Amino acid sequence: MSAILPPAERLWWKHPLDRVEAVWIAIAFAWCMVMFLMMVFWHVYGKQNLSTETYKTTPDKFAAKAQAMVDKYTVRTETDEKIPVVHPPVGSDIYLTARLWAWRPILELEKDKTYKLHLTSMDYNHGFSLQPTNINIQVVPGYEHVVKITPNQSGQFSIVCNEYCGINHHTMVGRLYVK
Ligand code: CUA
Repeated sequence: MSAILPPAERLWWKHPLDRVEAVWIAIAFAWCMVMFLMMVFWHVYGKQNLSTETYKTTPDKFAAKAQAMVDKYTVRTETDEKIPVVHPPVGSDIYLTARLWAWRPILELEKDKTYKLHLTSMDYNHGFSLQPTNINIQVVPGYEHVVKITPNQSGQFSIVCNEYCGINHHTMVGRLYVK
């Protein structure tokens, strides 16, 4: 067979498989399997991966749930804007809303306790970035992102928006307490 002339046998699958080609196909297949299994393995064992569940929602539906939490568990307000500080029960569903250009409310959590954090945006894409840890979550309007979190450090943390969202993007900062 020549590389210049057209093949005598047009049906390529009727050609015998060359040994070298078979070896390369086997290597490529084995590597594909390794990468495929790594996706599953890393999802479970990779410490830096966040497993988020995502559901469809609407601003109204989400706001109703978030407001119910705020009404029930607000312990005080902070800053001149009177931002509610919410201390929800351990293990509960907690809600954080992103909008131009704020994160509401301020959540106050307990150390080493697990919560289900629900995130959504009321308008455009925002990015949830918890400082100074390396946690980044895209916050997308129309979707509710649910992340299980267990704060293992106490203190005051900042939430900054890391998705450009307009003229005041750089002022979109929230607060989170862990006690
Ligand atoms: Cu919100 Cu940038």
